[in-house]
Amino acid sequence: MDKRELKDFQYKTVILDGKIEQDIEEAVKFIKSGENVALPTETVYGLAADATNEAAINKIFIAKNRPNNHPLILHISDIESLSKFAHNITADILKIAEFYWPGPVTMLLNKKDNILNAITAGSDKVAIRVPAHDIFRKIIERSNSALVAPSANLYTKLSPTSALHVKDSLDGRIAAIVDGGRCAVGIESTIIDMTTNIPTILRKGPIIADDIAKIIGKEVRILDDHNISVSGNKKKHYQPTTPTYLMLANEILNLTNEEIENSIILYHGDINQFKNIKADKTNISADHKQFSYAIYDILHQLDAKKYNKIIIQKPSSNDHHWQAIMDRLERAVYQ
Ligand code: TXA
Ligand code: MG
Repeated sequence: MDKRELKDFQYKTVILDGKIEQDIEEAVKFIKSGENVALPTETVYGLAADATNEAAINKIFIAKNRPNNHPLILHISDIESLSKFAHNITADILKIAEFYWPGPVTMLLNKKDNILNAITAGSDKVAIRVPAHDIFRKIIERSNSALVAPSANLYTKLSPTSALHVKDSLDGRIAAIVDGGRCAVGIESTIIDMTTNIPTILRKGPIIADDIAKIIGKEVRILDDHNISVSGNKKKHYQPTTPTYLMLANEILNLTNEEIENSIILYHGDINQFKNIKADKTNISADHKQFSYAIYDILHQLDAKKYNKIIIQKPSSNDHHWQAIMDRLERAVYQ
């Protein structure tokens, strides 16, 4: 058991530029020496550590304030190295890997014995993905090791989609942040359990169940309420510090002046529907991809403005592509 606490890790967090070769080398040096470095992925920024270094893995939990029983995703650089970490690699697993990797799908697989318990929280299953970001994959390759990486935010808080978001929450708690610009997708990967008879989505994400079902030609189940320790499965998660509410347009229109005092309304669609409301308003795209791309960034910005309330207009679409977004919004507002 690692008895060290955050006070033993006071860092002058370095911001590195992912476009500069020397800075990439610097990040690799930090990883090899057992430090945690925040790296860009296509989904959100991850807080990376060498997957073979138990002390480095423990530092992640301390830096994030995350309970140790929440396992970490193992990030690998290519499909070929999958067999080093997992066994029972079925044809379906390979089909998904070949179609979606590098990309925002994480598969829960039967782990090989060489995987440290600190990564899986003692489970015999390991979550693995190949991230679609050149900087991240380059750093895996040069570190000569797979990297574990949870989202680079404090436990239960908003996920980071820019280097600045990471700095806001983890400055002084980690060795370095590699700036690779904004994350292209903007919400966390889909997690699918491939160890069960029927492949089962544990965390909804950018890749929807129907699309995976088509790739493997089989039913894919979506588990909504389950006890598997996916921290993204906690009801309270991805939260701004400002009290945040999710309301349909007509519910917003029924709020009293008192209820919306010093509030900001994050709306999509037509602004005219809210023209009589005396609160600040800001727009987010009504397109699901654009909404995913922007939502964490906008919430980070609004959170910094110290409103009394953030009121998010609830998307009314039942389209499958909105499910992962609704999942994040419901957790962001859960009291
Ligand atoms: O897009 C993503 O998946 C990002 C980027 C950085 O790759 N990562 C991410 O990691 O969202 P994190 O730790 O914030 O969320 C991963 C989720 C956690 O809820 C964790 O509990 C679950 O995956 N998980 C990881 N390993 C698992 C395992 N062996 N069994 C069950 N759940 C697992
Ligand atoms: Mg997370």
